[in-house]
Amino acid sequence: MSNKLKIGLFGFGCVGSGLYEVLNQSNLLNASIEKIVVKDRDKHRSLAKDRFSFEKETVLDDSAINLVVELIDDAEAAFEIVTEAFRRGKNVVSANKKLIAEHLDELLALSEECGVSFLYEAAVCGSIPVIRNLEEYYNNDSLASIKGICNGTSNYVLTRLNNELKSFDEVLADAQAIGFAESDPTLDIDGFDSKYKLQILLLHTFGLKTVPQNVLNIGVRHVKAEDILFAKEKGLRLKLISYAKKVEDEIVAFAAPMFVKDDSFAFEVNNEFNAVEIEGLFADKQVFVGKGAGSFPTASAVLSDVSALQYNYKYEYRKLGSNSSSLADDFVFKVFVSSKNAESLSLINFIQVEEEFSSSNYSYKVGLIKSSSINYELYRNQPDLFIAAFEDAEIELIKKEKQQVESLEV
Ligand code: HSE
Repeated sequence: MSNKLKIGLFGFGCVGSGLYEVLNQSNLLNASIEKIVVKDRDKHRSLAKDRFSFEKETVLDDSAINLVVELIDDAEAAFEIVTEAFRRGKNVVSANKKLIAEHLDELLALSEECGVSFLYEAAVCGSIPVIRNLEEYYNNDSLASIKGICNGTSNYVLTRLNNELKSFDEVLADAQAIGFAESDPTLDIDGFDSKYKLQILLLHTFGLKTVPQNVLNIGVRHVKAEDILFAKEKGLRLKLISYAKKVEDEIVAFAAPMFVKDDSFAFEVNNEFNAVEIEGLFADKQVFVGKGAGSFPTASAVLSDVSALQYNYKYEYRKLGSNSSSLADDFVFKVFVSSKNAESLSLINFIQVEEEFSSSNYSYKVGLIKSSSINYELYRNQPDLFIAAFEDAEIELIKKEKQQVESLEV
């Protein structure tokens, strides 16, 4: 016999209103939305005004509500709601990757302490059931890598820039209008959203907990028509990839644009579609593809979590603690760096240059750099510096001890 779920819903935007509709259309669930809490009192919505309340206590203080579904985009307000719901013994479903990435430790500890379930399938790759599969199906295989197009907005923008002669801002505005982009699109196009999702994947793939500050993210904001042409001439495509790979005994992880070849899982994944490639020691490579953003696709993942809670499902985090791999501090990898201004390229410290081009209005270099020699601020503060990695290029770890020995030798 399944549990009757009485839902308190926070947020009635793109995903919240989508959930309302898919829940109404699904007759498989023993669940009902009892109360809906929103922030803006005056916004026009598809339901009558009296369906909404504006104070979080309306839900939190209601002991009949046993499930909080949190679908707001303010991560700090969401933290207050979610932690209070835990303390009141309510299970929580969330789609808030920023919330989870920024408060991973506290949320895991508190949900465990309060004996409640915290599910967040919709936070990573929208409709693709990647978290539950990593937890349940891949719990015995030793995983070697996970790579994903995890951000629909940037994939949509890159796809259209690849196919049309439109400006970056024009196609981003379209992504915002359709409802793919975050209210702050910086999160999408500067690689933060991809990084937050990667952090969640790191936890469920490798049992690795980390904080946003420890993972490099660079984005697609500075991509130029010439960069796309460079890719086309070489038979490559640009994709923003959330990347994690076991190298020796460490995990190399970052979110960055990458040039991918036509045999890559990512090559034909276009528009708002997401894809994840999981490589297992025994299973080899498997790919999941599906819509990663948008109202109904994301709501479908929320619905799946709600459905799982009818049977008291919880993540078990079996890989946590059983895995000794740590996050690599520094590594050498191959990058492409371009700028309209040749002098900007000198900001990047190449260990070795493989290819370079320079003209009065566009220059690039391809070669090896240390990951520690670039960071988000460097990318963000140089308005036309575009940095991209290469998907299948070798990565070499730089171990701390090795660096110390090298510096002693100098
Ligand atoms: N802004 C996100 C994206 C929404 O574009 O992928 C789904 O997480």
